[in-house]
Amino acid sequence: MYNRWQGKCDACGAWNTLAQEASGPPVPVPGASRAAARGKGRIFPLEGLQGASMDAPRVPSGIGELDRVTGGGFVPGSVILIGGDPGIGKSTLLTQAGAVMARAGHRVAYISGEEAVAQVRLRAERLGLNDAAVELAAETHVEDIVATLSHGVVPRLAIIDSIQTMWTSSVEAAPGTVTQVRGSAQALIRFAKTTGTTVILVGHVTKDGQIAGPRVVEHMVDAVVSFEGDSGYHFRILRAVKNRFGPTDEIGVFEMTGRGLAEVSNPSALFLSGRDLSAAGTAVFAGMEGTRPLLVEIQALVAPSSLGTPRRAVVGWDPSRLSMVLAVLEAHGGLKLGQHDVYLNVAGGLKITEPAADLAAAAALVSSLAGVALPADTVHFGEIGLSGAVRPVAQAQARLKEAAKLGFNRAVTPPPARDQGEKTPLAVTTASHIADLVARIAAGGRRNPRPSNG
Ligand SMILES: Nc1ncnc2c1ncn2[C@@H]1O[C@H](COP(=O)(O)OP(=O)(O)OP(=O)(O)O)[C@@H](O)[C@H]1O
Ligand SMILES: [Mg+2]
Repeated sequence: MYNRWQGKCDACGAWNTLAQEASGPPVPVPGASRAAARGKGRIFPLEGLQGASMDAPRVPSGIGELDRVTGGGFVPGSVILIGGDPGIGKSTLLTQAGAVMARAGHRVAYISGEEAVAQVRLRAERLGLNDAAVELAAETHVEDIVATLSHGVVPRLAIIDSIQTMWTSSVEAAPGTVTQVRGSAQALIRFAKTTGTTVILVGHVTKDGQIAGPRVVEHMVDAVVSFEGDSGYHFRILRAVKNRFGPTDEIGVFEMTGRGLAEVSNPSALFLSGRDLSAAGTAVFAGMEGTRPLLVEIQALVAPSSLGTPRRAVVGWDPSRLSMVLAVLEAHGGLKLGQHDVYLNVAGGLKITEPAADLAAAAALVSSLAGVALPADTVHFGEIGLSGAVRPVAQAQARLKEAAKLGFNRAVTPPPARDQGEKTPLAVTTASHIADLVARIAAGGRRNPRPSNG
């Protein structure tokens, strides 16, 4: 918020996007304790935590990977905001979800503010879905939309593509402005809560990955889901950022095909496809995304630098985590990396947030520096502490089972945690300190010397 005219928005860097907003009357204090003190205001009963409660009922969308992310299906009366880069496939996903629900006999409305009805039809035709009884309209006026959808049987699902194109006559501002987006979202949320319709709002994303428009919309809705992917790859990840009715650590994996988005039920196989088994500098990380294990390849390149300050670049992982692992390798692993450029990449364009990836990243870095390829049938996981100790991580068994399922024979893990008591299907080597890892990789290089380039 600025208290004078300003051309550039400091938050997103865009020009001429700020709109003037008059300050309204003072906001009443919730609970109106002052009014009550004056003898006004209704007295309401206060209740205890114990008492009648009910589970949120669910309407499965029929798309397993989408239901996994929402926590088992759409909750009636809830509002979901879905954000994603332009062209990532938001409209495709929602057209597919809408069609599947309509085929299951639910009333589904698809309101497009961005495309004409003919364009939406064209997409449905390409996806082979135009026999589904989805009700379409190209509209942007929220009051008209609410009136139309409230008429007759209210829809089970209403898709609004996108919230940035909507406008409401309750506020005086141009469409796309913060005030309009907020006002329109408010009206659509009220519609969802009063009718029990599940409303999905599509939201655009700014350059730095934030859902455009006011952050406040993210607070108003019940769930925020982001649809991610790299334009260079075919797969797309659906991730819950906020969910009032379910977990936020589950991901849904899809593959973009000519016939739309296909569910990927075995993502590890997808992320490991095309692996160069004999290259130095790659390690397979046995990760977890929510309740599902996910194997990915971590690639590192450590090369002598010609720059005064060597370069460090990382794709798909936290750069500060890389700096930390490098510092620990130098301080406790005896490596000299000060004169080397370091690049780290999570193959396939996936973004990893788990600290359990530390050990796999360290293995890839050491392997690249030593020029020694790691055994191709080995997975790694473990968190590295600043002291160089490798710490146990959660769900070790699930990670090992997934690795065994995909044909891996060996694992390098932290010392066993409590849940690792049972027999594992793999040959497990424990590394309790980063120095163990460095020593083992160096020994591997001495056993199988790599042919020199000359
Ligand atoms: N004829 C086609 N054949 C195959 N794939 C296509 C075809 N047309 C579009 N696509 C795929 O669909 C994607 C666009 O999907 P969609 O329109 O659902 O994206 P969106 O996220 O809704 O984009 P926007 O931000 O523009 O609304 C394209 O990036 C492309 O990968
Ligand atoms: Mg779209």
